[in-house]
Amino acid sequence: MTTPLRIGIAGLGTVGGGVLSLLGAHAERINAHLPRPITVTAVSARQRGRNRGVAIDSYRWFDDPVALAESDEVDLFVELIGGEDGPARASVEAAIGRGKPVVTANKALLAHHGTRLARLAEAAGTTIKFEAAVAGGIPIVKTMRESLQGNTIRRVYGILNGTCNFILTAMAEEGRDFAEVLAEAQARGYAEADPTFDIGGFDAAHKLALLTSLAFGTKPAIGEVYIEGIENIERADMEAAAELGYAIKLLGVALATEHGIEQRVHPTMVARGSAIAGVNGVSNCVAVEGDRVGHIMLVGAGAGAGPTASSVVSDILDVARGDQSPVFVIPAAELKDIERAGMKAHEGAYFVRLAVYDRIGAFAAIATRMAEQRVSLESIVQRRGGSAGGGKPQGDGVPMASVVLITHRTTERAIREALAAIETDGHLNGRPQLIRIEDF
Ligand code: HSE
Repeated sequence: MTTPLRIGIAGLGTVGGGVLSLLGAHAERINAHLPRPITVTAVSARQRGRNRGVAIDSYRWFDDPVALAESDEVDLFVELIGGEDGPARASVEAAIGRGKPVVTANKALLAHHGTRLARLAEAAGTTIKFEAAVAGGIPIVKTMRESLQGNTIRRVYGILNGTCNFILTAMAEEGRDFAEVLAEAQARGYAEADPTFDIGGFDAAHKLALLTSLAFGTKPAIGEVYIEGIENIERADMEAAAELGYAIKLLGVALATEHGIEQRVHPTMVARGSAIAGVNGVSNCVAVEGDRVGHIMLVGAGAGAGPTASSVVSDILDVARGDQSPVFVIPAAELKDIERAGMKAHEGAYFVRLAVYDRIGAFAAIATRMAEQRVSLESIVQRRGGSAGGGKPQGDGVPMASVVLITHRTTERAIREALAAIETDGHLNGRPQLIRIEDF
């Protein structure tokens, strides 16, 4: 009989527990069709005695994940610890150093150190697989690695953070404020106690950096991602968006342009009738535009024990079937540096919301500044009252107006310069709100 592939799992939180549970429930069926059966032999976590809902007594216990990765009883190392450095990185490097394949859900590790780790793995004759690192249970890594290889990719984008999507959906559907919904997301366990990583856009940026590499054959480059979070989105933006036929989503977008590759994570206005506008709550989605396949979109759970374990186990099975392919599809030595298209060159339409002192000449000055930068306006709505960027609803006894503009396609440089000039004119109470509109 073929010797089993012995698996060591480091990190027994939600995902690690989900992997043990999945394998416990389905191992017999899975092993019936594998050239080499799989078996978990060893585990490691911070606390041995914690109740995880799955028994771990039958596995060899390691306090140190590096020792687990190096153990002679482990052929495949599964890293579910998380974090770009520390024990996660040390244990992955230890496994690779012994020529062992690695399966990981760690987007931060690969977004920061992916190229180096891929080189090490390839030099050691092994590989790293990371389906669970991008959008949890959605099989987008495999889809891009295998099913879309005949295509030249123009754009890959998606809703890559469930916490942000939950918050934005609740703000839009229930008319609630950001801070209140964030508190609920924390109470439900979606957002961390320190939610900066999610709401600041960093988690989505890590995932986008990996998608960009798969789409364009480039080195993962988290430092080249433009990042804006959702913390400045106000109820007034949601109301204006709904009135104008848009929904607001935190999108990650990687786009090939004549100036290079744009990698950006930011709140985005999307048409209410678009497929992506209908992806709500904690769901994620990833869409790809290829020259032959056209536009495809995968939607599903971006986190959680079951969905993420589904992706981890998919990678384990690929290793058991003998898949040794390069980490980022092509050999690490052939990955190109990102030629970054700066945000100033970004082209698109924009939503602008301004809290304006309602006095003679204010509106005309705004229109003049836009015209000076050759920014053409598609629609203008002015209402009495309103605030922007945390400004006071009423300014110094002068009546206020809320002005919402939608521009035609322009450049980021032009709209930013127009807004800077409008600010210096002194007609605004608070900072302008600027949200990019994305066409699909
Ligand atoms: N915290 C992430 C989210 C899941 O809210 O989508 C893990 O990346």
